[in-house]
Amino acid sequence: MLDAASPRAAAMTPATGSGLRRRIPGFLRPVLKKAYIFFIGLMDRWSGRDRMIPPRSMIFVGDGDFRLAGEVYKLHFIDLGGLRPGHRVLDVGCGIGRMAIPLTGYLSGDGRYEGFDAVREGIEWCQSRIASKHPNFRFRHVDVHNKRYNPAGKARARDVRFPFEDDGFDFVFLTSVFTHMLPADLERYLAETARVLKPGRRCLVTMFLLNEESKELIRAGGSSLDFKHEVSGCLTVDADDPEHAIAYDEGRVRALFASRGLRIVEPIRYGSWCRKDSPAPGLQDIIIASKSERGKR
Ligand SMILES: C[S@@+](CC[C@H](N)C(=O)[O-])C[C@H]1O[C@@H](n2cnc3c(N)ncnc32)[C@H](O)[C@@H]1O
Repeated sequence: MLDAASPRAAAMTPATGSGLRRRIPGFLRPVLKKAYIFFIGLMDRWSGRDRMIPPRSMIFVGDGDFRLAGEVYKLHFIDLGGLRPGHRVLDVGCGIGRMAIPLTGYLSGDGRYEGFDAVREGIEWCQSRIASKHPNFRFRHVDVHNKRYNPAGKARARDVRFPFEDDGFDFVFLTSVFTHMLPADLERYLAETARVLKPGRRCLVTMFLLNEESKELIRAGGSSLDFKHEVSGCLTVDADDPEHAIAYDEGRVRALFASRGLRIVEPIRYGSWCRKDSPAPGLQDIIIASKSERGKR
């Protein structure tokens, strides 16, 4: 299964820290990483966050370091997405709380978190372990079909209306979700993201983007993911299980965002999935977009 932030990616210092990272001698970085993980572990035990982290056997959202991936993305949400403690936040496809857990220590009493997902077990875990202790966190199950994650789901993603009012959120994110969605479904979810976001506020989505560079790297065998099967105008690594990992043409994605009044905040942060040894801020490509003020496209 694919991860929004692989162990390697998670180990990388987030975008804003790249200057500092360059100043740290290479031999010290693994030591500092270990110290950081140890420190987070201590903090988790001290704050009770440990209870929120699911056992490995229950984790279905990727193989990387669960805790560290959430910590790294929390920094992206703040630095790139403009997240602030008092914000109202929506986590679409929230899985089993990987991104929610670090936010419990960041959002203030005025802040509010909403998450929904197609996998019932993930939502039940989050309700019993996170929402029970953090009343400003709410998780919902949406019984939507995804061949990989919820094959028996009744609703079609392309018909889903997010259960929230228009213009209600300061920040919306989808980490490692569009990488598992087919075009008609993705288009609907992007439209819904734009609908529920407040004008002027940002969303953060991760994707695998096909452009001249990534296509060349795939052709040359340098990519960790071999996107080679066409399905509905995008590429997947597995024709029998298309939602395993899906890549989209970057031009098409840019046009889609624009058509929904979502202005991409440049640059797109390209991930390390096809770029060996790149100082990328994560495995997947990160797109930040801002919702236009009403009426403006
Ligand atoms: C790789 S996991 C990532 C989970 C979470 N975003 C994270 O980063 O930890 C992909 C998630 O997308 C969810 N998902 C896929 N299609 C969905 C849909 N149409 N609606 C809601 N959730 C969906 C899956 O159930 C799964 O939890």
